[in-house]
Amino acid sequence: MFGLRTFTRVARELRQDLTAAQERDPAARDIGRWEILLTYPGVHALLTHRVAHALHAAGVPVMPRALAYFARMATNIEIHPAAEIGKALFIDHGTGVVIGETSEIGDNVTLYQGVTLGGTGFARGKRHPTVESDVVVGSGAKLLGAIRVGHCSKIGANTVVIHDVPPNSTVVGNPGHPVRVSGRKPEGPDADWAHLPDPVADAIRALSARIRDLEQELEQATGRKPQQTAEVRPLRGAGQDPAGG
Ligand SMILES: CC(C)(COP(=O)(O)OP(=O)(O)OC[C@H]1O[C@@H](n2cnc3c(N)ncnc32)[C@H](O)[C@@H]1OP(=O)(O)O)[C@@H](O)C(=O)NCCC(=O)NCCS
Repeated sequence: MFGLRTFTRVARELRQDLTAAQERDPAARDIGRWEILLTYPGVHALLTHRVAHALHAAGVPVMPRALAYFARMATNIEIHPAAEIGKALFIDHGTGVVIGETSEIGDNVTLYQGVTLGGTGFARGKRHPTVESDVVVGSGAKLLGAIRVGHCSKIGANTVVIHDVPPNSTVVGNPGHPVRVSGRKPEGPDADWAHLPDPVADAIRALSARIRDLEQELEQATGRKPQQTAEVRPLRGAGQDPAGG
């Protein structure tokens, strides 16, 4: 059941989680492990999960879910007791993170606030993502369904991932698509997912071009310069740093 062996394992996992926070949070470089243990919600949620998961695996009723519930109340991070989590996970900031029942997370994974590892419907069985080792999932990203995110990949902030992600890739957008695979941009007509068209900007651009043409014709016909009521600035073209907003 929940014996010395399990206790030793949970203690080892806690030490690895603390090291992960120390190494991966730039703000934690100058603070000690005790301070991290006392003040990092991601560490609290993980420690509670490690215990809840051991109890769940031992078949203890109610307690695992009760622990997950209290961890959620205290940290706003919800991890189902059955979720399989490898060593040295770091959940930075934490608020709004949800990790579903059949999720599997490898070693040295980093999740930022607002990440969901969720299912897509009411189907039972494996329905949550598998995230391989050394993956970074940006804030607000949603990984949905029984997909697999290959090792060493990066998921951009606010990305919605609904398909498998190859290893060593950077995926951005909604739906998420690779913009880098092993450091190279994917090629092909549909490969430019970081620079999606903006139909509203296109329509405004077309309208302002037509107004400019009409004003020129009016000026030629009447000799009167059109009155400038407001400054018309050229719109930023697509393809110049969509991540910068
Ligand atoms: C995706 C990310 C990991 C960068 O990975 P990277 O491999 O270094 O990729 P790059 O920065 O070279 O970006 C690749 C392309 O995707 C675009 N891009 C990057 N992040 C993006 C995002 N979240 N959404 C849309 N496009 C994005 C870049 O503009 C770039 O476009 P380009 O091909 O025109 O250069 C990073 O942008 C990100 O989103 N990190 C999450 C960080 C976070 O959540 N921090 C919270 C701290 S509290």
